[in-house]
Amino acid sequence: MAKQLEIIINPNPILRKKSGEVKIADLKKPQFLTLTKDMIATMLQKDGAGLAAPQIGKNIRLIIVRPDFSKPECLVMINPKIISKSWAKKIEDEGCLSVLDEKGKVYFAPVERHKKITCTYINEKGKPKKIIADEFTARTLQHEIDHLDGILFIDKIKNYE
Ligand code: CO
Repeated sequence: MAKQLEIIINPNPILRKKSGEVKIADLKKPQFLTLTKDMIATMLQKDGAGLAAPQIGKNIRLIIVRPDFSKPECLVMINPKIISKSWAKKIEDEGCLSVLDEKGKVYFAPVERHKKITCTYINEKGKPKKIIADEFTARTLQHEIDHLDGILFIDKIKNYE
């Protein structure tokens, strides 16, 4: 059974650290499989669209992304890298399981993101992959990859008047 992991809440220095690359040899370790399963279970239980390893206290370049919010299927993305971004950008509301308002609820605010991105990563089986994502998935990917560099979406909020 996958277990629920505790989510680190801002402010916390773990969320601000640049995470290190995952070694491919580590993918074969049973602890790694357990970690990804626990992260997926935690994200689904909290109704998130994505989760980055620093949010559960591990500064490694690992993210979980749910490309279709209406389905529970998730992508496990190791060492993800954005290799191209569209010029077009879009402003939309975003939230983060690690950023809560004064009532302890997930805080939402508008953030500008690239509309479409291409991303390379390693999957849980160690296979190199590429994804072309747009709209909601592109936004989630940019948000989660930012976590690996110690960046939170609240750093990017501007006055969009
Ligand atoms: Co987040």
